[in-house]
Amino acid sequence: MSFYKHHVFFCLNKREAPENCCACHGAEDMQQYAKKRIKELKLSGPGNVRINKAGCLDRCEEGPVLVVYPDETWYTYVDKEDIDEIINEHLVNGRVVERLRI
Ligand code: FES
Repeated sequence: MSFYKHHVFFCLNKREAPENCCACHGAEDMQQYAKKRIKELKLSGPGNVRINKAGCLDRCEEGPVLVVYPDETWYTYVDKEDIDEIINEHLVNGRVVERLRI
């Protein structure tokens, strides 16, 4: 059994324009938002959910990206509604959000 039920990594890598990067698409705000929501929902901690920052995950052109382990499920997102859907569907109910999956 894994230490966390769901371990989520948000790429927060920054690059100078005109290069693409996840931080160029609001990744830092969305990672902070996800962390806050997981705490509010009392889902954080061992045996539950951990939201982590990551460097470049090498899927820059599909970004912004996050990955959920141990499920090996990759997502892209645009806004807080997308993050809420990933939290409510995947992290709470164990259902992959196909529309955001990459
Ligand atoms: S900058 Fe996010 S995957 Fe490379």
